[in-house]
Amino acid sequence: MTARSAPAYRRPADSDSGAFFKVAAILLGLLVSVVGFFALMMWADAREARDDTAAAQASGRAPAQDAAALDPAVDHNVALPLDSFAGVVPENAQQLAEAHKATDAALPPVPAGDLVKVEMTLKDMVVEVAPGVKYNTWAFDGHGAPGPIVHAREGQTVEMTLVNGGAIPHSIDFHAARIAPDVAFRDIDPGESFTFRFKADDPGVFMYHCGTKPVLAHIANGMYGAIVVDPAKPLPQADREYVLVASEWYLDGAGIDAPASLNMDKARAMAPDWTTFNGYANQYVTHPLTAKPGETVRFYVVAAGPTLDTDFHVVGTIFDRAWVNAAVTNAPQNGVQTVLVPAGGGGVFDVKIDEPGLYPFVSHAFAHVDLGQVGLLEVAGTK
Ligand code: CU
Ligand code: CU
Repeated sequence: MTARSAPAYRRPADSDSGAFFKVAAILLGLLVSVVGFFALMMWADAREARDDTAAAQASGRAPAQDAAALDPAVDHNVALPLDSFAGVVPENAQQLAEAHKATDAALPPVPAGDLVKVEMTLKDMVVEVAPGVKYNTWAFDGHGAPGPIVHAREGQTVEMTLVNGGAIPHSIDFHAARIAPDVAFRDIDPGESFTFRFKADDPGVFMYHCGTKPVLAHIANGMYGAIVVDPAKPLPQADREYVLVASEWYLDGAGIDAPASLNMDKARAMAPDWTTFNGYANQYVTHPLTAKPGETVRFYVVAAGPTLDTDFHVVGTIFDRAWVNAAVTNAPQNGVQTVLVPAGGGGVFDVKIDEPGLYPFVSHAFAHVDLGQVGLLEVAGTK
């Protein structure tokens, strides 16, 4: 309330004091009756509660409000600090990082014809998420996490065959599809396979992921990837096209002596140990993506999460074109510095860099950089 409105609530003027005291006396009378009534009700309630407790004790039951305290399934330690393994790597980490083969970020070509056949086999496997840091994933045979980059053109049909080579049911949810999820994205039992088709009518870059419950655990364990659908009316020509899938990892151990597994409390608390582009911390720092001066480089970025967004930014330049939310049928934004890629969303970004040098690409939420979501674009040579 502002000072200006205060006069409306001022006490009545002295000339009205007789009427004021009459009204006050009536209100006081009413107040006494109301308070008396509630006191009576509270006394009745208290007696009822006492009776309930006595009855519960007689029957051996605990009163309802104490039931949680006696239930061994209720965890009362959720407020304890969660061990962090962020940045914990073996001594020879640099050597391991150099020996690690970086995930190929180059966008593969669109298959010819009207039908794009995709087959993915889910597999439980140990992968490295940082130099010398091993993790028990549920991931994709031949790829790890993320899964393969799928590339289609608007109007093509994608035929997706999912083979479940894992130990528990899994599924696959394509954000690029308009399809009944209870049918196409249903759980597939271990050893089973399932095929569904959808028409790639919506261009952009989309996430795909396992949608089996709890989805938080299935995505956190590596079950995600990206599909790029080119618009029928092509985007401006680009010289290089790279796909970056951002994600975070929640570890129950350092992963150095033995592979770590998922710490679900950390996943719920959104306290990751590592954040990555294409599944491995800092891999494009050690093995930079490349371009020549004056080339147009296009980044297709998906934030797989499971929970955290990515604030995509390239240090030392500005996005010449940014198709925010990967809405590639709209006009892009021009001259943009940083763009939010929401968890479960995507974005398409063009940069044209004339001056040779090393240009970091990051999530500008800098905790992500600290945890490994950073890479380098090396601009060198002559076009
Ligand atoms: Cu799954
Ligand atoms: Cu989804």
